[in-house]
Amino acid sequence: MDTTTQIFDAIRDYTNQRDTRRVFPTQATIDQLDTLPQALPANGLPPHQILNLLIATAAPATVLTTSGRYFGFVTGGALPTAQAANMLATAWDQNTALTVMSPAGTNIEQVALNWLAQLLHIPATAAGAFVTGATMATFTGMAAARHALLKAKNYDVESQGLFGAPEFPVVVSEESHSTLFKALAMLGLGRDRVLKVPTDAQGRMTPSLFPTLNQPALVCLQAGNVNSGAMDHAHQLIPLAKQSNSWVHVDGAFGLWGAGDQYAEADSWATDGHKWLNVPYDSGIAFVRDPQALTGAMAISASYLNSAGGIEPMHKSPEGSRRARGIDAWAALLSLGEIGVREMIDRCCQHARTFATTLSQNGVQILNEVNLNQVLAALDTDEKTLAWIEAIQNEGICWAGSTHWHGRRAMRISVSSWATTSEDVERSLASMLRSRLA
Ligand SMILES: Cc1ncc(COP(=O)(O)O)c(C=O)c1O
Repeated sequence: MDTTTQIFDAIRDYTNQRDTRRVFPTQATIDQLDTLPQALPANGLPPHQILNLLIATAAPATVLTTSGRYFGFVTGGALPTAQAANMLATAWDQNTALTVMSPAGTNIEQVALNWLAQLLHIPATAAGAFVTGATMATFTGMAAARHALLKAKNYDVESQGLFGAPEFPVVVSEESHSTLFKALAMLGLGRDRVLKVPTDAQGRMTPSLFPTLNQPALVCLQAGNVNSGAMDHAHQLIPLAKQSNSWVHVDGAFGLWGAGDQYAEADSWATDGHKWLNVPYDSGIAFVRDPQALTGAMAISASYLNSAGGIEPMHKSPEGSRRARGIDAWAALLSLGEIGVREMIDRCCQHARTFATTLSQNGVQILNEVNLNQVLAALDTDEKTLAWIEAIQNEGICWAGSTHWHGRRAMRISVSSWATTSEDVERSLASMLRSRLA
């Protein structure tokens, strides 16, 4: 069998298991990974043998995130068309750093960015970049913020660095995502040198506790708390931030997809394609209202780089060489259309409400207001909640993880896959209720 047939057969078989296989692999299948070659062979193996190892040994140990019953970590699944486009783009092996390296890759990505801006209520004049994930999208947006805030103080941070730079305040939420602090650290802005706004019972910034700013700051809002799904109050907080000419960055890794236009007045936005748009991993997206702030932070020059007038992704993102990752998003958007995207988001939110209602009717406590795709469910003690989650995971019908929420342990159910059907929700609920009694 040639390798192409072998791969496509394997993909078909894997996909066909989506409704039947355990969502999380057994320990026995994970242990089998030890049988994969551990020592680098002196001589290479033939392709079919390598693929056999992956198909027979690695595939059974994968977590079935493509299943409609995977509710862990706000990951989303992967739409079949996006997956297929990803494979095609991999076969093309385009380096999408510059237009001259890949006219097809850069053009298709730019169209996808235009569509994304339209869907996410971001101005058409904003500059966009495909990066690895929301962590890097937030890094990118905040690098543009750092550029602009310091340029306004006549300081060129890209050439002078932060040593001796004028200071500016950074405002975050007490419940900003951990990766936002990582991005701050990578930018030299400091994880701890921040003003933290206290949050309410849903994990949203409390507008009345927003600090008085007497100079332009970097203000970081969140569209979608990673536990509760709650959104910071954009309509109150953006005008407050704008009173001091501050830069507003929005971490909307998944929540931006369900936020409507409430964050439209922000200055930069970070989101993921690999979460709620359901494209394969490696698809973060950054947008910056002022294109010059983005290129000011990211553009480089070298004797062999021609950046005259093209789309030139490497001058708008932290990365140079990279695959044409935006093709996956382009295919996903084309396959769903605007209405299809909205329906997918609404469907996930509806499933989340069904989880919350049915669990609550059966004596489970729901700790958050279920306004998006996140459900925090708990039993009356932490011990019982953790044992319940373990029993559900062991049964293998569905998978949801545990979290800490305002002093309690909870099961976090994140519904963000295109593949989740009402039947998946019913099967998962049956497993959850059975496991509670076990
Ligand atoms: C609110 C929020 N921000 C940032 C991230 C980080 O995203 P990524 O893992 O794609 O970098 C996540 C991931 O769950 C998130 O939920």
